[in-house]
Amino acid sequence: MENINIGILGYGVVGAGVAKLLKQKQQLLESRIGAVLNLKAIADIDTTTDRGIDLGTTALVSDANLIIDDPKINIIVETIGGETIARQFILRSLENKKHVVTANKALLAAFGNDLVTTARKNQVDLAFEASCGGCMPIIKCLRESLVANDIRSMSAILNGTCNYILTKISKDGSNFEDALKDAQKLGYAEADPSLDIDGFDTAHKLAILNALAHGMEINLKDIHVEGIRNITPVDIEFARSFGYTIKLLAIGKIHEDHVEARVHPTMIPDSNPLSHVDTSMNAIAIDADATGQTMLYGHGAGMMPTASAVLSDIADIARNIISGTKRRVPILGYAEDNIKPIQILPMEELYTRYYLRFEAQDHPGVLAKISGVLGENSISIKSVHQKGRKSNGKVPVVMITHIAKEAWVQKALKQILKTDSVVGRPIVIRIEETDRE
Ligand code: HSE
Repeated sequence: MENINIGILGYGVVGAGVAKLLKQKQQLLESRIGAVLNLKAIADIDTTTDRGIDLGTTALVSDANLIIDDPKINIIVETIGGETIARQFILRSLENKKHVVTANKALLAAFGNDLVTTARKNQVDLAFEASCGGCMPIIKCLRESLVANDIRSMSAILNGTCNYILTKISKDGSNFEDALKDAQKLGYAEADPSLDIDGFDTAHKLAILNALAHGMEINLKDIHVEGIRNITPVDIEFARSFGYTIKLLAIGKIHEDHVEARVHPTMIPDSNPLSHVDTSMNAIAIDADATGQTMLYGHGAGMMPTASAVLSDIADIARNIISGTKRRVPILGYAEDNIKPIQILPMEELYTRYYLRFEAQDHPGVLAKISGVLGENSISIKSVHQKGRKSNGKVPVVMITHIAKEAWVQKALKQILKTDSVVGRPIVIRIEETDRE
């Protein structure tokens, strides 16, 4: 049986998970692939901490170059993370004609186009199933399973930390800080948790998925990103009373000549299956023309779910190697020459429905003033909700709008802020009804 030699760069949680699963599932993988997946070496600056894995004949080295320059190694798995050393190591590995597997969504979102170009130039594969949605096979789904579909839209929960925090606040009455601390303890959060709670991690994943879904380059910089810091129990409670749930969604929708790509807290009706995706779970709903709605649901983070996704990439590459082929599936899911320069819609041009919450002065005429400004900006109000009188004289007033343009809403909010009717910045949460609304 042919031997496929693998090297892992980084022996942290993900690297250790990959090593563990490779060792545990040696027999199963051999029988499914028809080759021996031999973990030849792992590189990490820490070669002494016991990760509880029997490495057998696998070498644990401190110098990554011993793996990158080893002519016997076919596949390199990068699990270091970050955008500096990991990038250099991946580029050198590709230049050394090694296939590379990575889970590094931040790196792919920022420098993925360069990495793809380098992989193409060197006729090797670059695989990244574990970069988006953990063990959900979303990359394979977009690149292969849905190959005969135009992807009309994707709505997804792609950050376990945010989903965990929102679930804990909404279901257990936890406060934001405690819920974040729990998520950190459970190992979901990034080393810098602002990547999670400010929406950037979700945006990294959306940038990758948009490229695969729509045949465009990876474009992170034009994605509109908002996180969950401003979401309060008051908004969650209002949402519940309207039959909505608040989720941090990644939304990607194709229009004739542009895509919508945005990440922000979103109110979705309880009839939307995404509203029932709780705790750290991830899910993606894909609306495609031949299939209609398809949904994937699974663990978006964690040692073994992530390792499972990495192993699926290793298996694909190993199968290519033993059948004498490579680069069977284009890295971004479209033949190189067919990747189009599709623009992302500027956020000001978006049309959607809005939940607006004002801390309003409890005076006669305040509601008329706010709704007057909204009306002057062509924003039509669907409903107004006011709950109780607060002791400091301010009351939360919520307005739900009909479909309005983002630019109108932002302009109106600025004008309302200048009046003496409200205190502090209003909370704006966009509402998604159905994908095809
Ligand atoms: N920090 C990420 C999350 C890990 O919370 O989902 C998986 O990418």
